[in-house]
Amino acid sequence: MKIPTVDFRLILNATEPEWRAHLAELFDRMHFILGDQVRAFEAEFASAMCAKQCVTVGTGTAAIEIALRDAGVHHPKQEVLLPALTAPFTGIAAASTGAALRFADINPDTLLLDPQDAGDRLTRHTKAIVPVHLYGQVCDLRALREIAKLNRAVIVQDACQAHGARYRGRPLTDFSPYVAYSFYPTKNLGALGDGGAILTNSAPTARRMSQFRDGGRRGGQVAYVKGVNSRLDEMQACYLRAFLPHLDEWNAHRAKLAALYLEILQGCPGVRPVRTSNSVWHLFVIRASRRDKLRGHLASHGIGTGIHYPVPLHLMPAFAGNGLKRGDLPHAERACREILSLPLYPYLSEDSVAQVAETIRRFYV
Ligand SMILES: Cc1ncc(COP(=O)(O)O)c(C=O)c1O
Repeated sequence: MKIPTVDFRLILNATEPEWRAHLAELFDRMHFILGDQVRAFEAEFASAMCAKQCVTVGTGTAAIEIALRDAGVHHPKQEVLLPALTAPFTGIAAASTGAALRFADINPDTLLLDPQDAGDRLTRHTKAIVPVHLYGQVCDLRALREIAKLNRAVIVQDACQAHGARYRGRPLTDFSPYVAYSFYPTKNLGALGDGGAILTNSAPTARRMSQFRDGGRRGGQVAYVKGVNSRLDEMQACYLRAFLPHLDEWNAHRAKLAALYLEILQGCPGVRPVRTSNSVWHLFVIRASRRDKLRGHLASHGIGTGIHYPVPLHLMPAFAGNGLKRGDLPHAERACREILSLPLYPYLSEDSVAQVAETIRRFYV
């Protein structure tokens, strides 16, 4: 039996009455941009994440960029500090502001931004830090907040892989004025296309960003600031509203499957799972010796895998000129050679997880 990296059919089947009801409302209203569905989803997502305000946008990339711009990041003399191991889109978002990028290394166990290394690389030009809650784990926000305070740098959290995650039991918006999310289809809360959002506890901040995402307008046809056109589609809001009430149950299912992977892979030679106590398990990632051969072996058994990510950002051509070379961020570089993401999604069966884990064990023994 084939096991893909994600299966949307199962998610759509389980939520069909809800999304059909929202689509019916939309087709009744025929208001396709920034209408009732988006407004309702913004209130529902803010409430589910225990934030006061939600501004939806077109993508997670736009969410990060708009948050940085709102924080005053716009100039090549300003720097944005971010981890070298993340989706290229984190870097693309920061670069789009016009600021310079500074990459920091990761903790070799969690693969999250290392606060110590981030602190060492901070300069007086660092205007913002973008911790990335990679794979569903949450960064050490307390330590990063202390570092940011030294420079009066703002923290924009990249929570694109961490829907539903909290830090020490508290909402992420308690720790910085901007938390950015993506609704790319494979995310813990994904649309059937692109989408994103910024959560904040500040009403004036939310008002500015709402204006900015909609061409700098305030509902009419006058642009007051040079904004962007980056809005969540009403149709995507219909699906997101149907999926959101299932987020906790889906995250719990991910955690159960992750525990099963950990149990079966325990002691497997050549495999070291990236393990954390605080995750919503967007991805289940192992560090594997002979990673590419293992990946081929799994593919030959019909098992889909991913690599998140194969190249650290400081070595990607798009970010050339960032001042770092091969060898400068050894933990991120090594991780990129070893990591492999295994299938993990709502409604994936425990039997399938066992099959994947056993296929890995057989490869090594
Ligand atoms: C960590 C991280 N940051 C940013 C993004 C960008 O999100 P989007 O694809 O919605 O622009 C993604 C998703 O691809 C991501 O995983």
